[in-house]
Amino acid sequence: MQIRKMKVDDLDEVTYLEQLLFSSPWSKEDFIYEINTNPFGHYVVIENEKQIVGYLGMWLMGDQSQITTIGVNQEMQGQGYGSQLMQYAIDLTCQRKYHNINLEVRVSNMGAIHLYEKYGFKNVALRKNYYEDTHEDAYLMIKEMEV
Ligand SMILES: CC(C)(COP(=O)(O)OP(=O)(O)OC[C@H]1O[C@@H](n2cnc3c(N)ncnc32)[C@H](O)[C@@H]1OP(=O)(O)O)[C@@H](O)C(=O)NCCC(=O)NCCS
Repeated sequence: MQIRKMKVDDLDEVTYLEQLLFSSPWSKEDFIYEINTNPFGHYVVIENEKQIVGYLGMWLMGDQSQITTIGVNQEMQGQGYGSQLMQYAIDLTCQRKYHNINLEVRVSNMGAIHLYEKYGFKNVALRKNYYEDTHEDAYLMIKEMEV
């Protein structure tokens, strides 16, 4: 198992997973912008025997980081890959001495919410009508870092 930077060559595999995992999947162009152009973007994949099992996106914003996406192949969920990605995000935020790490999550996404709570994220706000596709609300969740 290894976590490494996402490359453009990975995007066929990543967007294949993305379409299976999300109701409003990002396109290949979205990911290309994030990894090549967005100065805040930090994107990694997690591999098992050279196969991409999952991925994580972050924005590193100078004093805080935001998790923009996290996904694990449905057939490989429940085996700790999501936790490894989450630990990676927290470790990087800690190394940068940022004050917090935050994210938004659909209020119905209990699996992801459990994962975030397990890693110390607290639900601090409700963003009404946040998602364009279903108009679902989002929780803003934050983990304060000890700096
Ligand atoms: C959320 C996600 C990344 C978790 O990845 P994973 O590899 O299954 O996570 P892990 O195996 O490391 O599990 C970590 C914790 O997540 C929680 N969890 C994961 N799936 C769960 C589920 N279906 N129901 C309840 N809790 C769940 C549990 O608390 C688990 O801890 P435990 O093993 O101590 O019970 C994965 O389910 C996924 O890709 N979901 C679809 C995409 C998505 O919704 N991403 C989040 C967008 S905000």
